[in-house]
Amino acid sequence: MKTILITGGAGFIGSHVIRLFVNKYPDYKIVNLDKLTYAGNLNNLKDIENMPNYEFVKGDIVDEKFIQELFEERQFDGVIHLAAESHVDRSISNPTEFVFTNVIGTVNLLNSAKHVWKDNFDGKKFYHISTDEVYGSLGDEGMFTEETGYDPHSPYSASKASSDHFVRAYLDTFGLPTVISNCSNNYGSFQFPEKLIPLFIHNIKNNKPLPVYGKGENIRDWLWVADHARAIDTIYHDGKIGETYNIGGFNEWTNIALIKVMCQKMDEKLGREKGKSEKLITYVKDRAGHDLRYAIDATKIKNELGWEPSLQFEEGIEKTIDWYLENEEWLDNVTSGDYQKYYNEQYKER
Ligand code: NAD
Ligand code: TYD
Repeated sequence: MKTILITGGAGFIGSHVIRLFVNKYPDYKIVNLDKLTYAGNLNNLKDIENMPNYEFVKGDIVDEKFIQELFEERQFDGVIHLAAESHVDRSISNPTEFVFTNVIGTVNLLNSAKHVWKDNFDGKKFYHISTDEVYGSLGDEGMFTEETGYDPHSPYSASKASSDHFVRAYLDTFGLPTVISNCSNNYGSFQFPEKLIPLFIHNIKNNKPLPVYGKGENIRDWLWVADHARAIDTIYHDGKIGETYNIGGFNEWTNIALIKVMCQKMDEKLGREKGKSEKLITYVKDRAGHDLRYAIDATKIKNELGWEPSLQFEEGIEKTIDWYLENEEWLDNVTSGDYQKYYNEQYKER
């Protein structure tokens, strides 16, 4: 039986990856290591928590001794590393936390993998999950390929870029069998309502202002989260050691166009008069260092590994809105506690 460590499995993308692996691979033991920060929630995994091939371990990847002992005790065959501080706005108000988790935490995992695997890398893989934001910002033309140079602008993307460099350095220096993927913006169920799509669904439902940064002209490439989880499965099993794979939806939207689609759909679903939710749109002060456009060229993963997105955006956004409307309890749960404090602080001057 193979034992695979998945870090950050109680978060948004991690919970979809855990669900996929636990259901699809009964012969793998899946260990979910998560600190359960504000973004980690075991309710995201209720449906699989009692599966015999699943185990949750609460812990912090920044804790070097704990990580070292965990690796020695469990002798993992593979690592899929998703744990991170992931929200750009939080990285602007508290960059240091991003250095600890995203950089030091990743280096701790690399050191422990190197230590326990030292003489035998056969069949082992350290798979690091990264973001398209490391490539910086595009103008009107072009897309990010695997060859695009790194040019991060936010403390979040700088910390992810740094962790990517460490992963490649451990491959080049120590021969650690690593692979990296860089994905575009994900959307779907179980995303913490600080990110654009779940935040705006929550606000539209509650008739609260929709804080659009700047002119709403920034462009993001949106991918259905379950498609990202499928890509991670494909890369973990078939991706070549030392390679990088870009993952994206070929699905670019300006923020304002996306927000208007969400408003229209929610008017219908909530039985509101047409155009009512759009009135909640409020243009606020722009995010500092706000990247204009992200767009992923996902040709390599399609040609080499046969992965492509399965879901069209129209269907995905419908499903996403329905999920948040049907899972009020989940939303209430994650927006209790510190959420209100964060929200007031983040949007007070906007
Ligand atoms: P998330 O914030 O929803 O979840 C992060 C998880 O990591 C949480 O469960 C949290 O408790 C855990 N965690 C945080 N610090 C930890 C620590 N020190 N030790 C152990 N666990 C810790 O994030 P997400 O959106 O699911 O993103 C997951 C990964 O995918 C991240 O590495 C992120 O950079 C990357 N990514 C995200 C997107 C996106 O659109 N959300 C796109 C591309 C790449
Ligand atoms: P976000 O979901 O934070 O993802 P990222 O910044 O990592 O791409 O934001 C997506 C886009 O939406 C980004 O251009 C910033 C914008 N945005 C707003 O206009 N208002 C908001 O309140 C938030 C959270 C984001």
